[in-house]
Amino acid sequence: MTTTTTSVFRSDLLAGKAALITGGGSGIGAGIAKRLAAQGAKVALLGRTQEKLTTTADAIAAAGGTAKTFATDVRDYAAVDAAVRGTVEAFGRLDIVVNSAAGNFLAPAATLSANGFRTVIDIDLCGTFNTCRAAFEHLAKQGGSIVSITATQAEVATPLQCHAGAAKAGIEKLTRDLALEWARTGVRVNTVAPGPIDDTEGMSRLAPGDMKESFKKRVPLQRYGTIDEVCEAVMFLVSPAGAYVTGTTLLIDGGTSLLGAGPFLELMG
Ligand code: NAP
Ligand code: COA
Repeated sequence: MTTTTTSVFRSDLLAGKAALITGGGSGIGAGIAKRLAAQGAKVALLGRTQEKLTTTADAIAAAGGTAKTFATDVRDYAAVDAAVRGTVEAFGRLDIVVNSAAGNFLAPAATLSANGFRTVIDIDLCGTFNTCRAAFEHLAKQGGSIVSITATQAEVATPLQCHAGAAKAGIEKLTRDLALEWARTGVRVNTVAPGPIDDTEGMSRLAPGDMKESFKKRVPLQRYGTIDEVCEAVMFLVSPAGAYVTGTTLLIDGGTSLLGAGPFLELMG
């Protein structure tokens, strides 16, 4: 059985850079913020809950990094714009944006309310547009990189996930459009699409209880991914190693999407 990678070494690969991470207070977004900070970037964390942001910022500071927090709802353009400006004011520049903020829950399309559907589209898709739009003028000053975290639901038909699937597919299309429009400014735009990632809020919501073990057996690589493995993909895209990559989606899913809807049919009971 393959083992997971967990070693994170500090380096100055991103020294002098500034990054902004939405959903940076917890889970995958917090992992990415810690990784970018460990590679030398100053990081700004956005999310609604100040306590979560502070916990992550404190961990980054304790490890020798620099982090600022902005309690912000990504659905509120004016608030996002203010947080982006606050980041540039604090760090003098903005080079990297990671959109990890999202909302999700299991819900059958037949009973999902219009507001439930709209809420997820609003957080994931509109929130990602808001952040990209507010950040662009700052990224374009010296070239930069945007990575949005999508999910395999963007491509694979998935029961009880029509809201999240539509939102993530929208982000992947938005990414290709922005990548084309902004290429001449040196701003690259990509997405990372994780499959099931262990020890996250997303996993606990989408594979509750006993499902966690049975679903794991259906993953071709026979295990869940780790937050570190998502960080590796983001690091590739934002670092010089990814300098010629724009408008693409990097799947980090242990092969799950190769099986189409199969692994998810259990969700339907
Ligand atoms: P998570 O810890 O719940 O991360 C989501 C973050 O988004 C939270 O910190 C949350 O903080 C923030 N957020 C939610 N609504 C927001 C809003 N309106 N404005 C600002 N921030 C908001 O869950 P996760 O599992 O790590 O997910 C992170 C990302 O990975 C998401 O984009 C998710 O779709 C994606 N993903 C996860 C998995 C997985 O297996 N976990 C798989 C595929 C894709 P507040 O509630 O404090 O605002
Ligand atoms: N099933 C069906 N509908 C649901 C639901 C569920 N489990 N949870 C919320 N909704 C509906 C609500 O009923 C409401 O619709 P209504 O007005 O027609 O009743 C709508 O969604 C908005 O709910 P609300 O609680 O007001 O939204 P919010 O903006 O406070 O929170 C959520 C957004 C619902 C996505 C919330 O789960 C959240 O904050 N999630 C962030 C963390 C997360 O999801 N992490 C995993 C990422 S993969």
